[in-house]
Amino acid sequence: MSESHLHLHFLSLLLLCYVSPSSFSSLNIDYSSYVACRPYQTQVLTEFMNEFDSSHCNLSDPYNRVWCDNSTGAVTMLRLRACLSGNLKPNSSLFRLHHLRYLDLYQNNFISATLPSEFDNLNRLEVLYLSNNSFVGQVPSSFNNLSLLSYLDLSQNDLTGSFPLLRNLSKLSFLDLNNNHFSGTLNPNITSLFELYNLRYLDLSYNNFSSSLPSEFGNLNKLEILALQSSDFFGEVPPTISNLTSLTELYLDDNQLTGSFPLVQNLTMLSVIEIADNHFSGTIPSSLLTMPSLLVLKLRGNNLTGSIKFPNSSTPSRLEYLYLGKNPFEGKIIEPISKLINLKLLDLSLLNTSYPIDLNLFSSLESLLHLDLSGNSISPASLDSKSDIPINLEILWLQGCGIKEFPNILKILEKLEYIDISGNIIKGKVPEWLWKLPRLNTVFLTNNSFNGLEGPVDVLVNSSVKNLLLGQNHFEGTIPLLPLSINVFSASGNRFTGSIPLSICNYRSLTQLKIGYNNLTGTIPQCLSNFTFVNLRKNNLEGSIPDAFHISSSLKTLDVGHNLLTGKLPRSLQNCSSQEFLVVDHNRIKDKFPFWLKSLSNLEVLILSSNKLYGSISLPGQGPLGFPELRIFEISDNKFTGSLPPRYFENWKASSLMMNEDGGLYMVYTKATSGRLSYFNIEAIDLKYKGLSMEQGRVLTSYATIDLSGNRIEGQIPESIGLLKALIALNLSNNAFTGHIPLSLSNLGKLESLDLSSNQLSGTIPNGIGSLSFLEYINVSHNQLKGEIPQGTQITGQPKSSFEGNAGLCGLPLQETCFGTIAPPTQQPKEEEEGEEEEVLNWKSVAIGYGTGVLLGLAIAHLIATYKPEWLVKIIGPNKRRSL
Ligand SMILES: *[C@@H]1O[C@H](CO)[C@@H](O)[C@H](O)[C@H]1NC(C)=O
Ligand SMILES: *[C@@H]1O[C@H](CO)[C@@H](O)[C@H](O)[C@H]1NC(C)=O
Ligand SMILES: *[C@@H]1O[C@H](CO)[C@@H](O)[C@H](O)[C@H]1NC(C)=O
Ligand SMILES: *[C@@H]1O[C@H](CO)[C@@H](O)[C@H](O)[C@H]1NC(C)=O
Ligand SMILES: *[C@@H]1O[C@H](CO)[C@@H](O)[C@H](O)[C@H]1NC(C)=O
Ligand SMILES: *[C@@H]1O[C@H](CO)[C@@H](O)[C@H](O)[C@H]1NC(C)=O
Ligand SMILES: *[C@@H]1O[C@H](CO)[C@@H](O)[C@H](O)[C@H]1NC(C)=O
Ligand SMILES: *[C@@H]1O[C@H](CO)[C@@H](O)[C@H](O)[C@H]1NC(C)=O
Ligand SMILES: *[C@@H]1O[C@H](CO)[C@@H](O)[C@H](O)[C@H]1NC(C)=O
Ligand SMILES: *[C@@H]1O[C@H](CO)[C@@H](O)[C@H](O)[C@H]1NC(C)=O
Repeated sequence: MSESHLHLHFLSLLLLCYVSPSSFSSLNIDYSSYVACRPYQTQVLTEFMNEFDSSHCNLSDPYNRVWCDNSTGAVTMLRLRACLSGNLKPNSSLFRLHHLRYLDLYQNNFISATLPSEFDNLNRLEVLYLSNNSFVGQVPSSFNNLSLLSYLDLSQNDLTGSFPLLRNLSKLSFLDLNNNHFSGTLNPNITSLFELYNLRYLDLSYNNFSSSLPSEFGNLNKLEILALQSSDFFGEVPPTISNLTSLTELYLDDNQLTGSFPLVQNLTMLSVIEIADNHFSGTIPSSLLTMPSLLVLKLRGNNLTGSIKFPNSSTPSRLEYLYLGKNPFEGKIIEPISKLINLKLLDLSLLNTSYPIDLNLFSSLESLLHLDLSGNSISPASLDSKSDIPINLEILWLQGCGIKEFPNILKILEKLEYIDISGNIIKGKVPEWLWKLPRLNTVFLTNNSFNGLEGPVDVLVNSSVKNLLLGQNHFEGTIPLLPLSINVFSASGNRFTGSIPLSICNYRSLTQLKIGYNNLTGTIPQCLSNFTFVNLRKNNLEGSIPDAFHISSSLKTLDVGHNLLTGKLPRSLQNCSSQEFLVVDHNRIKDKFPFWLKSLSNLEVLILSSNKLYGSISLPGQGPLGFPELRIFEISDNKFTGSLPPRYFENWKASSLMMNEDGGLYMVYTKATSGRLSYFNIEAIDLKYKGLSMEQGRVLTSYATIDLSGNRIEGQIPESIGLLKALIALNLSNNAFTGHIPLSLSNLGKLESLDLSSNQLSGTIPNGIGSLSFLEYINVSHNQLKGEIPQGTQITGQPKSSFEGNAGLCGLPLQETCFGTIAPPTQQPKEEEEGEEEEVLNWKSVAIGYGTGVLLGLAIAHLIATYKPEWLVKIIGPNKRRSL
């Protein structure tokens, strides 16, 4: 049983305990037949429902129910899930249902409502379930009056403030605050948490508590489940945790916890211990592996060292899921593992072993289904088919193990579903027998030196493989005939030649076709329009882009850049309402700017550079360009003309993106794939901006770039450019821009690369640009600028050439000093310009959205829980170098 199952099991037990059906009479009927409900109660309930759009509430389905006490006729239990839409107001009739003991309003659409303090009118409540409702603000102190409450779930909202006041809730046994924005210290002198002695379930995960773990956690000794992951906890785990003798599940992952292994060895009920991605150091206590109930032990990504000595115990360990990866064990840990004979999952990746691992060591692990040895060196002999390894393996990761020969050991793994041998140095042909493994579903051969497939041309056709990833190898010849059930075919970065076979149009389940960076010729088949992810970049394809995108298209990504394509942009792209990436750069497309793409409300990336596009990029009389989600806009080296209206950059996504300083999204992402890159759904883009440090895996979801260079755009640079706070690169060079450099550029606090060279800009360089602290590269050469170059470390470190060819710039890094020259001192802008700047700064930017992050977090939590590949999580990945 996986931990997520355990979790659910516990939940249902709790519900059974607290919502004992015998104390409520149940009516699953429509309004008119509430026999046990008094008319007045029914009326109040009707009023409540009428405050909302409740047309989706079906009181006959098992989720939505009203129960009335059969002696008093009062509504005592109300469950309305995912069907109300509107505002929950303080004067809502809900708060007149005083007899409610059970209230479940899970996942309704209460638009940005705060939690009304009137909830305390419902002071008979025992169960209150308000999860996933977008409630904002603080939990009102009146919640403290719900003194009969035993079950409180406020999870999946946007609640803020410190730990809520719940002091009088002495009966509380279940408290779930996960996925909110609660913050601050859990100071035992102030917070009421440590007085909730009856808590059996406590979930504070995915919040922003920035706190140590007070020793008072030891007071909560009825706790069975304690979940504190991803909430910024730091410091050591207090020894008093050993007091929590009822604990069955402990989750501390992804915090900043330090010190030695938490004192949990005596907690004999524990079945799950997850402390991954912290800074725990020292050795693993030897008694841990023989804890009587322990099934899941997740220690990945810490600083644990040393070896485990197994106590001489007659009872074998029950451990089923063991994650030890990314710890500096140096291999000492491996031998004792052969005694953990109930293991189903074993993660030993990235152990920094000093000697090659011998797969025969795992021969005793007969239940093992999932083995991860990525990033270790493996004894070549033990990869031979004569080795003794668990034959029930379903998932095997051997990524980056320095393997030279195809691992023949796979031949005996009849149950293998998923194999990853990417990032090795295997040469030659992929053996024919691989495709005969009866359950094979996903094959990663990426990043090796394979040059072909052994066997006849149709060797793949009858294979069960659905996801085939061959990218970054030396495959030659024409694209092979694919398995009939293929879903993902990714073969970018090879030496495939010939045309794209029309046979790909026959695969009904093919959704991802990634064959960029090959040497394919011919035209693009029409059926391309039926796929979701298409990458044909850097081939020699000719003809035009098929104009067959139909209204039900699921296209998300289309990258046909760097080919020989001609004709116009297909107008049927307007039908692709899911599209996020449209990349057609470096072709010969002759067309006007595609204003008509505005209907693609999800478009985030539009790259049209280096084509033969022409005409104005703004429509007469129009203000903002108006692509609501656009973040990456590159149209350089075309023949665009015209000028940009002042409000051109208003309402762009780049003004409201939530920037994550530490690349938080990326961290979550690497954890989801256990620190490895998954090649699924990674959209890579070549971003070429001088000075831009594209460190590996920088996530494209969190920043924005604009490149209009090499056109004939004239007029002023719109002040509204200063609204795009997430901009990291701006290139307007080689145009005909006139006027001053906008003062608002100083607002672009994330800017790393700025190129305004070769225009006709006049005036001075705004002083604020000198204080842009991330600016790595600036070029204003070949304009008509005057005055002093703003001084600041980012600027004086630039080469002289960045300022050359102007009318009269002085100061570092140029040799001309401003003192004693005829150049005027830095001019303060004229009055009206100041006014303009203020106006720009006051333009409202859209509220920051946390939503995506939370959802991603959830999806990933699920992923971690099951440790099964899950391709639905959309990740926009690293740059081109990485994808090659
Ligand atoms: C309401 O739910 C019941 C039970 O699930 C179902 O039979 C019925 O069709 C639903 N009614 C509507 C209008 O959806
Ligand atoms: C109320 O329901 C309970 C349980 O179903 C039953 O024992 C009791 O007799 C009922 N009371 C009335 C007044 O109907
Ligand atoms: C609740 O208050 C709002 C104003 O905030 C008012 O418009 C509405 O009529 C009131 N509803 C009831 C049921 O009193
Ligand atoms: C929360 O609600 C949204 C819809 O509003 C839904 O898509 C999502 O799956 C829900 N999340 C959870 C964890 O229930
Ligand atoms: C709590 O109060 C005690 C006594 O007043 C004090 O010694 C202690 O430092 C306080 N703890 C915190 C975390 O503020
Ligand atoms: C441990 O639990 C006991 C009750 O079992 C309680 O009396 C004691 O205060 C707790 N100790 C600590 C250090 O929390
Ligand atoms: C665990 O229990 C043993 C024996 O009861 C005791 O000696 C030891 O101190 C306990 N360890 C912890 C960390 O509480
Ligand atoms: C890891 O632990 C060792 C001691 O075991 C310590 O010297 C080292 O600084 C730790 N490294 C990190 C990154 O915490
Ligand atoms: C691509 O194919 C053409 C002939 O079709 C050949 O001239 C060229 O060298 C090939 N390029 C590469 C990179 O293999
Ligand atoms: C797209 O798929 C549908 C059925 O799934 C098929 O009828 C249609 O011909 C396909 N379009 C192209 C251009 O292949």
